[in-house]
Amino acid sequence: MEFNKEFATLTLPDRDPIQIPVITDNMGEKSIDVRNLRKETGYITYDPGFVNTGSCNSSICYIDGEKGILRYRGYDIEDLVNNCDFVEVAYLLIKGELPNYEERRRYAELLNRESMLHYDMQSFFRRYPQDSHPMSILAAMSVSLSAFYPEMDDIDPEAQIDFAVTRLLSKIRTITAFTYRQMLGEEFVPPSFKYSYGENFLNMMFKSPVNDYQINPLHVKALNQLLILHADHEQNCSTTAVRLIASAGANLYASISAGICALWGPKHGGANQAVIEMLENAIANNMGAKDIVEQVKERNNTFRLMGFGHRVYKTYDPRSMIAKRLLQEILDLNTTHDPLLELALELEEAAVNDDYFKERNLYPNVDFYTGIIFRRLGIPTNMFTCMFAMGRLPGWIAHWLEWTNDPYGKIGRPRQIYDGLSLRKVIPIDER
Ligand code: CMC
Repeated sequence: MEFNKEFATLTLPDRDPIQIPVITDNMGEKSIDVRNLRKETGYITYDPGFVNTGSCNSSICYIDGEKGILRYRGYDIEDLVNNCDFVEVAYLLIKGELPNYEERRRYAELLNRESMLHYDMQSFFRRYPQDSHPMSILAAMSVSLSAFYPEMDDIDPEAQIDFAVTRLLSKIRTITAFTYRQMLGEEFVPPSFKYSYGENFLNMMFKSPVNDYQINPLHVKALNQLLILHADHEQNCSTTAVRLIASAGANLYASISAGICALWGPKHGGANQAVIEMLENAIANNMGAKDIVEQVKERNNTFRLMGFGHRVYKTYDPRSMIAKRLLQEILDLNTTHDPLLELALELEEAAVNDDYFKERNLYPNVDFYTGIIFRRLGIPTNMFTCMFAMGRLPGWIAHWLEWTNDPYGKIGRPRQIYDGLSLRKVIPIDER
């Protein structure tokens, strides 16, 4: 990274112009380094939503939103989806390089060894109402790991971190499956050594005492691809939450739990659930694609086309195109008529050709088609965001680790533009 070779000149109303360093990153993007701005001038910057703010240096993920490029550790998302499974991609994100055959075998074995949940933790699930949203259980269970595995609190980075990270990656899969079994009021299916990461998950979800789950290789492939698509996306809302909580010194499990809560929102990971609900609602009300598009455009309407638009992508989200292709692959083997899919395809066509969407560069994002695939795998709508969380976990972990090694290391603490009242006096209560 090039520091301080170029400078921008800032002219403030009440002082001489000052020189501000310009940083050029590895891809040639330029940033204005305002780290010393307040110390030197008394001014701060105003950037709600952090639309123009780089919050850290990071080497994990690269996005070019104009060109629709997404890379993890330098590898294109398409390359990873076609040539790796989720365990390899998790290893890549967390450790920085793809594993060789032996490293992958050992990692998968470690993941299987760590997949059980403490017996007392299992009883927690039973205390939740059956209709609880699974994301509330997932967030609570992941922070509960710090109670059941408290050694994270006195981290010896070298000895413990690798172990804790692997344990979390493994146990979150078990927690997600147990959350589903709790929703159904069914017995938990324990993880098994004989299965791969994806097979284990599907077996824990769908095996029943009366009907063994037959592993479907196409479903395992789809699950792997979907988890890879979700595995990281640089400084999005939930990852920023993870980093912010980590910056206060909170442990890994607590930081990840914050990420899960952030992901739950319908503008973020909750959009995959919202897409299906939008499509179902439209079908129930006899609305076609054009009606939905018109409804979105109505003045004063706060309704948004779910699964469309992105803060960074101003063209097709590359993940949406991979998801659409995957969906096609799954459907080729199962030609049943799916009204939701038909409506989704019509809706994409109607929206991308509509001026409102064209002017604002709104295209399908990752969530537009993934929900339909999750449904095909038998995963219920309210579990979709848990699936997103399971996929995003290695990314969150990688960012947590990167943050803990960041030499800048300051607690995240933005400033504000105060628009409240100036000083006033308390009036005694009997005179108010
Ligand atoms: N439908 C209709 N209009 C939209 C949409 C949409 N989905 N997204 C943005 N717009 C409009 C918005 O109303 C605004 O219009 P105007 O300039 O007239 O005020 C303009 O486009 C810019 O929108 P913005 O809210 O400033 O954009 P943002 O970068 O703050 O928001 C977003 C990004 C993803 C929150 C937003 O596009 C959105 O709410 N999309 C629907 C929810 C969704 O699909 N979320 C998943 C995102 S991808 C996965 C993830 O990150 O978790």
